[in-house]
This record gives sequence, structure tokens and C-alpha cells, in this order.
Amino acid sequence: MPNKKSFLKQFWKEKKMVGAMAPSSRFLAKKMLENIDFSKAKVLVELGPGTGVFTDKILEKMAPDAVLLVFELHDAFCTQLQNRISDKRVHIIHDSAEKIEEYLVKYELGKADVVISSLPLANFPQELRNSILQASHKSLTEVGKYIQFQYSLQSKKHIKKVFNEVSIDFTPLNFPPAFVYTCNKAD
Ligand SMILES: C[S@@+](CC[C@H](N)C(=O)[O-])C[C@H]1O[C@@H](n2cnc3c(N)ncnc32)[C@H](O)[C@@H]1O
Repeated sequence: MPNKKSFLKQFWKEKKMVGAMAPSSRFLAKKMLENIDFSKAKVLVELGPGTGVFTDKILEKMAPDAVLLVFELHDAFCTQLQNRISDKRVHIIHDSAEKIEEYLVKYELGKADVVISSLPLANFPQELRNSILQASHKSLTEVGKYIQFQYSLQSKKHIKKVFNEVSIDFTPLNFPPAFVYTCNKAD
């Protein structure tokens, strides 16, 4: 089970990278995943899984022949996930999110149907934030979706520069309350 104590401990060590004091709620997880057609999504990418609250839900919903690439840069979270999750459909990658395309090529997956991101974009330097958004956009199929949560609307203008079609939802049922951006690649 995703562990709240371990999350808080990692937050104190790496505040900007971890970006939250607690794992997301099941309400936020539901909102993040509700616009994904899991019967059609065959290649899924998750950025910044932390202790894996969304990863577990994605795996419950994913088709048996779908593949999930998970990018986690933090050593302890990544090791925890690798030890806990043994599902053959998932590759847990200890590397940074802007390398999506490199790993899609490595695993011969073509383009992604959906990118689900929990990355704390507002904490990132401009260059890293832009390269992750660009890499996510490039990695998607023409009808692909990028779904991102944030605790503020600070990143809205940056996301809109890369994705023309962006809708924003909100849930108060998370600590802190969160905005969910759903972005379509197609204009
Ligand atoms: C706000 S936490 C979200 C964790 C989890 N998805 C949740 O909602 O509870 C952000 C996560 O992104 C990870 N992260 C930060 N920068 C990253 C990067 N460049 N590439 C991959 N993961 C990164 C952090 O280590 C952390 O696990």
C-alpha cells in the first residue's frame, strides 16, 4: 500500500522534486483518470508516480494487452515501486520525465495514447518544465491526451502554449485541493 509516512519523509528531503506533503487522494485519482478510454488506450505513460496511488488505479483499469511506462526520478520512490509492483504490463523507469520518447523507442511502443502527470511543474526551472511539456506533446498520438494535476493555476499559461485544447477541472477533496488539466493533442 502507498505509504503516507514515507511520502512526508521524502518531501522534507527533496521539497521541490516531490512537491507535496502527502500522496494524492482517491478523489483526485478518480478525476485524473475519468476522461481516459481504457478500452482504447494501449500505450500509457505516467510521470511522477511517487508511492503509486495513481499507478495502482491505472493498472486496475488498463487492458490486459496495454503497456504502462512509469517515470520516477526519486531513488527511494522508484525502488519502492519496483519492489512492490510486479505486473508484467508496467516498466518502472528510474529516469527523468523529459526522456519519454527515448523509452517509447527502447520498448518499441510507437506513440502514447495518454500521458498522466503529477509532476510539480510550478517548482521546475522553465527549461525543464518546457522540455517535459514538449516531450509529452511529441510522444502522443494525434488523438492522445495529456492529463496533469497542479495545486494552482500558475502553470496554465505554460501548458496552453504547448496544448491548444485545455480544459480545467477542480477537486477540493485532496490535500491540498487540486486542479486537473486535460489537454488534447489535436487542435
Ligand atoms: C506531487 S508528487 C506526486 C506523487 C503521486 N503521483 C501522487 O499523486 O501522490 C510528484 C512526483 O514527481 C516526481 N518527479 C519530480 N521530478 C521528476 C522528473 N523530472 N521525472 C520523473 N519524476 C519526477 C517526484 O519524485 C514525486 O514522486
